[in-house]
Amino acid sequence: SDGADFIVAANRLPVDLERLPDGTQRWKSSPGGLVSALAPFLRSHSGAWVGWPGVPDVELDELTEDGLRLHPVSLTSTEVRDYYEGFSNGTLWPLYHDVVATPVFDRGWWDTYVKVNHRFAEACAKVAAPGATVWIQDYQLQLVPSMLRDLRPDLRIGFFLHIPFPPTELFMQLPWRAEIVRGLLGADLVGFHRPGGAQNFLWLARRLLGLEPTRGAVGVRTRPGVIQLGNRAVRVGAFPISIDSAGLDALARKKETVARTQQVRADLGNPKKIILGVDRLDYTKGIDRRLYALHELLQEGKVDPDEVAMVQLATPSRERVEHYQRMRGEIEQIVSRINGEFGRVGRPVVHYLHQSVGRAELAAFFAAADVMLVTPVRDGMNLVCKEYVACRHDLGGALVLSEFAGAAAELTSSFLVNPHDLDGVKNAMLAALTIDPAEGRRRMRALRRQVLTHDVDRWARSFLDALEPEHGH
Ligand code: G6P
Repeated sequence: SDGADFIVAANRLPVDLERLPDGTQRWKSSPGGLVSALAPFLRSHSGAWVGWPGVPDVELDELTEDGLRLHPVSLTSTEVRDYYEGFSNGTLWPLYHDVVATPVFDRGWWDTYVKVNHRFAEACAKVAAPGATVWIQDYQLQLVPSMLRDLRPDLRIGFFLHIPFPPTELFMQLPWRAEIVRGLLGADLVGFHRPGGAQNFLWLARRLLGLEPTRGAVGVRTRPGVIQLGNRAVRVGAFPISIDSAGLDALARKKETVARTQQVRADLGNPKKIILGVDRLDYTKGIDRRLYALHELLQEGKVDPDEVAMVQLATPSRERVEHYQRMRGEIEQIVSRINGEFGRVGRPVVHYLHQSVGRAELAAFFAAADVMLVTPVRDGMNLVCKEYVACRHDLGGALVLSEFAGAAAELTSSFLVNPHDLDGVKNAMLAALTIDPAEGRRRMRALRRQVLTHDVDRWARSFLDALEPEHGH
């Protein structure tokens, strides 16, 4: 087929191939914020998507699914182990999230990471029309920008990191730190969520490669920093990602959603207050923290188990990685301890699902929740908190949000907490549970103003505008 003018490359395609027990297969939506942010944007901009179909050892031809041109990149099971579970999620993920788990530095994993990044670069080179724009996503593909530039110097190349870029002293632990920085500098524009990430990257380029930025200040809505590499300028800046705010707002207003919201409340026994958590089951999300806080509030009699129900939806994620298995065990133990001590037959306090839940169903849970708990110990942005706000056209509900989520910089009318400070989390939960309705509406109105005016389209446009050639010189 014809080459594409606009290409997104990400580790995952927006859909996952699912193999059913009867041997048949079908596509289902992929987990995580990256896909939920980018898929609606790309669908309305007729681009192609290069990515892995989510299962090992399948060779698939190009296909069109839900209006998107998909170019599957295949991975063997060994590559899934060493590149995806290994280097991406056993090394980079914990390192970039403030080493909340200990990163493993394995030379074999690195070799496979290099090899798989090269395969992605070749796939992009093959799909791209002359002069096309290729937008590479996230920590799994940090070497692709420079590999692709070597193959196709005619392309415009952008890179965006969806997770935090770590403090320099943590990044410096990485044995392959200079290779990663060099890989990213293959792009014309390197984007981060927060100005601090961009600053850290500029510092590393100077420290590791001796490159001085030619223009300095990096911040949202200020001029990006620029690194001059021969006759090529690499721009570095902050672009906080968002969601399809209007789409979710409309979904929440649909009468099916409103009916489902009432049903959810009824299913939970029409408690006075519903507390909600929605996350991938990841050790960075602080799911355990919020459960410990609830447990203590129940023990102290500050929360009445007859009046409050908590729902924790946890999407299965990276289940073969040890640290994820350990966190799952811990979460399930505290859930059953709470229910064992404070539930009644037919009336648990915590309703926990280890399942992925569809968008419409999620909207109903958001609309039903009086208190939303988003308590990661570190998060690049966190889109769940923005989704919650987008669903509250009724101005109901209260958001408790970790200071360590990128979104905290924007959602300042939430109850901001340090998830390590259990007393602080408990106090914020109590304040949110007992908030005066007028004060709650005031806060929600301010949150909605931010989320509805800063949607994913605005994010993508500001990134792609900055990627235009005229900005580079
Ligand atoms: C985060 C990452 C994405 C990733 C998603 C789901 O949002 O930034 O790159 O796709 O989690 O994780 P998974 O490992 O299942 O792709």
